[in-house]
Amino acid sequence: MLELKDFCFTIDKDGEPLNLIDRVNLKIPKGHFMAIVGPSGCGKTTLLNTIAGLNEMSEGYIYWDGRDLEEEGDLEPAELGYVPQFSIAYDELTVDESIEAVTKLRVKTRDLDDLDQRIDRVLEETGLAPIADRLVKVLSGGQKRRLGLAMELVTDPTLLLCDEVTSGLDPRSERDIVRRLHDLSRRDGRIVISVTHSLAHLELYDSILVLHEGRVAYHGPPAGLTHYFSVEDTEEIYPRLAKQDSNRWRKSWEKHADVYYSKIEKNRNKLIDAGELNVPLTASKQTSPDTATAPIEVEDEDWDEINGEVPEKASSSKRNKRKKEKSPDTEPLSLDDDNDIIKETTEAVRTPGAFSQFCTLLARRWKIFFRDRGQVFLQLAIMICFPLIVILFAEQGNETLLSFSDSGTDYSVSGLENLNKIASNRAKVGGAVSGIIMFQMVLLALMGSNNAAREIAGERKIMEKEKFGGVSPFAYLLSKITFLVAIILVQSLIMGIAVQSAWAFKGTGSTSYVDHFIFLVLINAAMTFICLGISSLMKTSEKASLLSIYLVGFQLPLSGAVLALPETVGMITRPFISAYWAWAGSLQHLRTDYYAAVKGVTETRIDFNSTTCMTILGAQILIGLILTYIGIRRHQWEH
Ligand SMILES: Nc1ncnc2c1ncn2[C@@H]1O[C@H](COP(=O)(O)OP(=O)(O)OP(=O)(O)O)[C@@H](O)[C@H]1O
Ligand SMILES: [Mg+2]
Repeated sequence: MLELKDFCFTIDKDGEPLNLIDRVNLKIPKGHFMAIVGPSGCGKTTLLNTIAGLNEMSEGYIYWDGRDLEEEGDLEPAELGYVPQFSIAYDELTVDESIEAVTKLRVKTRDLDDLDQRIDRVLEETGLAPIADRLVKVLSGGQKRRLGLAMELVTDPTLLLCDEVTSGLDPRSERDIVRRLHDLSRRDGRIVISVTHSLAHLELYDSILVLHEGRVAYHGPPAGLTHYFSVEDTEEIYPRLAKQDSNRWRKSWEKHADVYYSKIEKNRNKLIDAGELNVPLTASKQTSPDTATAPIEVEDEDWDEINGEVPEKASSSKRNKRKKEKSPDTEPLSLDDDNDIIKETTEAVRTPGAFSQFCTLLARRWKIFFRDRGQVFLQLAIMICFPLIVILFAEQGNETLLSFSDSGTDYSVSGLENLNKIASNRAKVGGAVSGIIMFQMVLLALMGSNNAAREIAGERKIMEKEKFGGVSPFAYLLSKITFLVAIILVQSLIMGIAVQSAWAFKGTGSTSYVDHFIFLVLINAAMTFICLGISSLMKTSEKASLLSIYLVGFQLPLSGAVLALPETVGMITRPFISAYWAWAGSLQHLRTDYYAAVKGVTETRIDFNSTTCMTILGAQILIGLILTYIGIRRHQWEH
């Protein structure tokens, strides 16, 4: 039994509280299929989100099997299924792979057989078995909705919430989905609540909740709708709603609630008797004839007597009076609680550990990467073309560096000309060496931003959905780090090796290029993880990309490698410029004469030792990771 009591969701509008959901009272028994309908903007999604716990309830109570969810903790992620309106599957995966990944993320299966059985069961339940090998990107709208449903059914949720899963579908697909939802509610005492715009197929539901401006205007069997609203056709209900203030609708409804609830109860008992509803016999069924809370039997013709326009008639019934006397506050509605009767027969679903989730997320990320040809092609193009750009300047960097000490003390004209030649050679070679190193750093920074800017922002909704389903933010972060570290290493090594083959790093000792490589990796990692932080904090991937590109764009001018900045400006901007620290750090490993030549062409301070530079880049990586973790944890369901 799901029960809402004076359930409110309030926002602050211009300093005033505004109830988007206003004192909703509901009782929904197990094995029930309910539709939430109402005009656009009436609060259907908000109500669903607040029931799911995605919006924080402002006032009131929500009980699940008599358990106060506010006080005693929410439902387990596996107990709750939420099918949002948007697609939660990756285009590059097949139907089967999508369901497999989500099962591995949300269900601790005993073995592979258990996993396969679970996947096969939901494929069957949703009618997706014949198209299990099809890629998500080629699915029709209806098939995608069924996939969204399948991905929620893997945990066998006892409460299934669906938001507009039929919108935009043709009547046949719409009926197919409503039918499936109906069937799902008939098993294991599952409650299915479906928000819909459509007023078609209402007869398949056990009850219809009509919401108007965040208030309940009706909650009863579909057959009572037209009568209650005094209309010929359900299509006339919305215009009818608009004719009266939502407060009046609610008041009118409160007077009628018991009568309609008893009708729901009666229908439910009929279904149980007919064996159509797979819920053990309820207490109400067994005891109702003798108890004070017995529901009134309302025959179909009784609808005439409980017209919404004459509320007093219904509320003056004997049963209502008796019920009010008995427990006016805590039992406003007539449905009997069935929590004690329905026992969990199936094994409770447990969420897998963070390590297992990490492995699934990482494997899925690589699969998506290799399936996305555009992404693979772009990565290859970048990995090959960027080093080539640097190699273009190799020739100048390979010129022999002349030394003033070679010129002796010849102050004749030819001696001075020689000095001049040496000076210009040193300026040219020093400039080229500095430039080659800086180009490597800036291009790796660009690769870093390309690696990460969309990484989280581009799949935010899916991530939010999976977090909500029990995926650990830490596992998610770790999978991103591992994936990106592999990309960073490949990119940096290709850049290092390719450039090294054309222009050997003029370093001290035979392994100084290793130190240079370390800075290539560090700049790429710093920019990747800072941009990953941006990606996790921004609301859209466009914003994240733009900000990341700006960040790279500022690296070269603010590094001081091309034109020196005033020292005070340099001091302020330097901590943020990763390319500067990678460049300055790498320069420390140059042979003394090359270092002197570079120093001769730059007025920017470069005498920080290599460890300082590494530490600062390490700190930037850490800051990027902390930002990423904050961004991943942050609740960003709404866009
Ligand atoms: N977090 C929020 N802050 C401010 N306003 C909100 C918020 N969430 C919802 N609203 C407003 O509350 C109202 C109800 O929104 P909701 O999305 O629940 O409507 P709906 O009935 O689902 O509409 P539709 O049928 O168009 O999907 C809208 O006016 C919406 O702008
Ligand atoms: Mg909505």
